[in-house]
Amino acid sequence: MKPMLNIALPKGRLGEKVYGMFETAGFPCPSIKENNRKLIFENDEVGVRYFWVKPSDVAIYVERGAADIGVAGKDILLEYEPDVFELLDLNIGKCRMAVAAKQDFHDDAGRTLRVATKFSNIAENYYLSCGRDIDIIHLNGSIEIAPILGLSDVIVDIVETGTTLRENNLVVIDTVVPISARLIANKSSYKFKAEAIDRIVSGMAKQVEESV
Ligand code: PRP
Repeated sequence: MKPMLNIALPKGRLGEKVYGMFETAGFPCPSIKENNRKLIFENDEVGVRYFWVKPSDVAIYVERGAADIGVAGKDILLEYEPDVFELLDLNIGKCRMAVAAKQDFHDDAGRTLRVATKFSNIAENYYLSCGRDIDIIHLNGSIEIAPILGLSDVIVDIVETGTTLRENNLVVIDTVVPISARLIANKSSYKFKAEAIDRIVSGMAKQVEESV
């Protein structure tokens, strides 16, 4: 029997797109479309096991080897710096990490900048590269509220359509880094399950090329 390839999919709309790419690459698992409560699905014939996990947890499963491969946002990879191989930019789930503030914000370089964010590591690295002193205020969501209530001067957060910022009267001041979904692999799986993983990489790379 061939070894099972364990694949962590990010739960949600992006995950469905991602599954479609695995399917097209030759790793279908029809049962995944039939049940929306179950979290694990197998196709013994192809030797594949998929599981749905919270998007921000995919890298943890892959780093620890519970999943051989998975798909995670570049934001998560930059924030947590998991020890995994980044194999391919899937060119989906595109957005950017940006600095935003109230429209009337004026930066005073002489003062410590208060930065609210869910992405403390990304924000720290970014301001370190700018040589700017900051005070990180780590929040877990609804980051946009922080400058409105005076909790912070700016936020570092994901901007996709820009609607959330607009609705809260905030504007982008700087782009930190563009973000997209990446195919990642556990380092030892990449050695021991190379054949299947290589097939997936080339099958997906072909789809990415066709999409641009
Ligand atoms: C992200 C981000 C913004 C929003 C930006 O939140 O934190 O709030 O998306 O998208 P937009 O530019 O299209 O309005 P997400 O929906 O990922 O959920 P979260 O609050 O749990 O981070």
